[in-house]
Amino acid sequence: MRTYYCGFLRSENIGETVTLCGWVDRRRDHGGVIFLDLRDRTGIVQIVSDPQRTPDSYADAETMRNEYVVQITGRVTQRPPESLNPKLPTGDIEIYADRLELLNPVYKPLPFQVSTAEPESVREELRLKYRYLDLRRSRMSRNLQLRHKIIKAIRRFLEDEYDFLEVETPILTRSTPEGARDYLVPSRVNPGEWFALPQSPQLFKQLLMVSGCDRYYQIARCFRDEDLRADRQPEFTQLDMEMSFMSQAEIIELNEALVCHLFKTLKNIELPRPFPRLTYAEAVERYGTDRPDTRYGMELVNVSDIVKDCGFKVFSGAVAAGGIVKVLPIPGGNEAISNVRIKPGGDLFKEATDAGAKGIAFIRVKDGGKIDTIGAIKDNLSAEQTEELLRRCDAQPGHLLLFGAGDTATVNKTLDRLRQTVARQLGAIDESKINLLWVTDFPMFEWNPDEQRLEALHHPFTAPKPEDVDQIESARAQAYDLVYNGLEIAGGSLRIYQREIQEKVFEAIGLSIEDAYSKFGFLLEAFEYGTPPHGGIAYGLDRFVMLLAEEDSIRDTIAFPKTQQARCLLTGAPATVDNLQLKELHVASTFKPKRT
Ligand code: AMO
Repeated sequence: MRTYYCGFLRSENIGETVTLCGWVDRRRDHGGVIFLDLRDRTGIVQIVSDPQRTPDSYADAETMRNEYVVQITGRVTQRPPESLNPKLPTGDIEIYADRLELLNPVYKPLPFQVSTAEPESVREELRLKYRYLDLRRSRMSRNLQLRHKIIKAIRRFLEDEYDFLEVETPILTRSTPEGARDYLVPSRVNPGEWFALPQSPQLFKQLLMVSGCDRYYQIARCFRDEDLRADRQPEFTQLDMEMSFMSQAEIIELNEALVCHLFKTLKNIELPRPFPRLTYAEAVERYGTDRPDTRYGMELVNVSDIVKDCGFKVFSGAVAAGGIVKVLPIPGGNEAISNVRIKPGGDLFKEATDAGAKGIAFIRVKDGGKIDTIGAIKDNLSAEQTEELLRRCDAQPGHLLLFGAGDTATVNKTLDRLRQTVARQLGAIDESKINLLWVTDFPMFEWNPDEQRLEALHHPFTAPKPEDVDQIESARAQAYDLVYNGLEIAGGSLRIYQREIQEKVFEAIGLSIEDAYSKFGFLLEAFEYGTPPHGGIAYGLDRFVMLLAEEDSIRDTIAFPKTQQARCLLTGAPATVDNLQLKELHVASTFKPKRT
């Protein structure tokens, strides 16, 4: 039906007669000459029709409207100098339409303008409801194509350079230990029993290592019933990998090679290697988070030892209670940030209290080493303490120092959030920077105050560092995350393959051997039959595409995403089902809608 894609025509094609198919992006009538922008997934080309030069198509051209599907045959022609369009790859040429055939019109008013020429102001709900129209738009079409290219480059690299084998793992399976809530599917033929959709292929990929698969990868769909944000979907895709007989250093090296290859192939960017590494402890100390954005400074400074004996009870009390006092130093913050914003009612105050802080203490650094601060600090910090504090924070005139005091987790969370908010507002982030870094040496466990027990920070098959095995509860893990401009894009670990260590870990998280067997018995049994040392990693593929596409939401990298309320506006899922269907599944809903 066609000889070319619209977006591929260039001046080399001048003189050719071509046939094209696509959608009318826009129709313009310039008093006797009609211009149609014809669009397909490769781009736009200008079609021209007038009564003198193309009498056979002119009447049809007049009836064309936006989004009609058409086929045109015509001659590729050089555009006159005044109508060259350097912004368009096809902007040197236009096509005189000898024949124009309407393949299908649009029967209803369009819910929004699809044309690339229209500004992007369509509400997201409308875009998601009419996603097929949204995906026609150049930005979304470009994102889908980029996603495809990334996956293609991943496949070529892993298969051709490193002998990875792609293996599919089940979607109907048992619960996997990634820590989110499961999506469940009732079994009709096994009344009262349920499948869980995989939160990741974790257990199967480890079984594949026991199978001798050696190097596995999969573009794997994962399902997690958790609260959604701009970078989270209930159903998302991982690039999932697992490999045998490789050390942590080798796994990290291979992954750096992969990421560099992707940046080179898709963006023509050479990333410097090796990527910087931070231990978890360093990351949290310097940035208050295990996924720091290192495109800007404003590193946190721990001043607990300086203020531990001062008269200001908020500081000394926090340290006495086993907590910390830390400072977020903000260059230029003196002028940029008013007291109103830091005090109750202010936006930064709210940010801090949302993170669990009671408030924010501050010091403003003036010329000549003078300071301006709240009375309680002025009266209760000695001159030596103040001087030492300013020196440690490398405080210069114009600096604003914001303080967090309290338990370690809350202080870090608060100052991390303030650091990010302030950096955005002050324009301190160099958007052209690509900062990839590894965070390593995560703790094996974290304390769950609700359940009063330790739980695995990564998952219970993560191997501890060999030197820490004897103090398992405080052990560091052989786990690593890849962080890209403050966003976690991949995480993985070496796995436990020795029974004694696995039992120690189960014991630490309060999982009895019987319980462990009832949950993961199939995996533990498999480990008894000759398991190679192995480890792996999984990338959030949607997030990776989001960053390469320079989008702010993973919804813009997924063809048919869900909303923040985990709904598909296009299909209306989730939806109620027939009682009969429920009956067959031996399921009854206990949900009682509220009376209105
Ligand atoms: P983890 O749980 O860290 O590890 O997930 C790996 C990566 O998947 C992405 N991700 C998500 N992306 C979109 N929406 C979500 N709801 C979501 N949740 C996670 C993140 C994250 O870094 N089995 C282990 C990997 C391993 O140990 O090999 C796992 O799933 O980018």
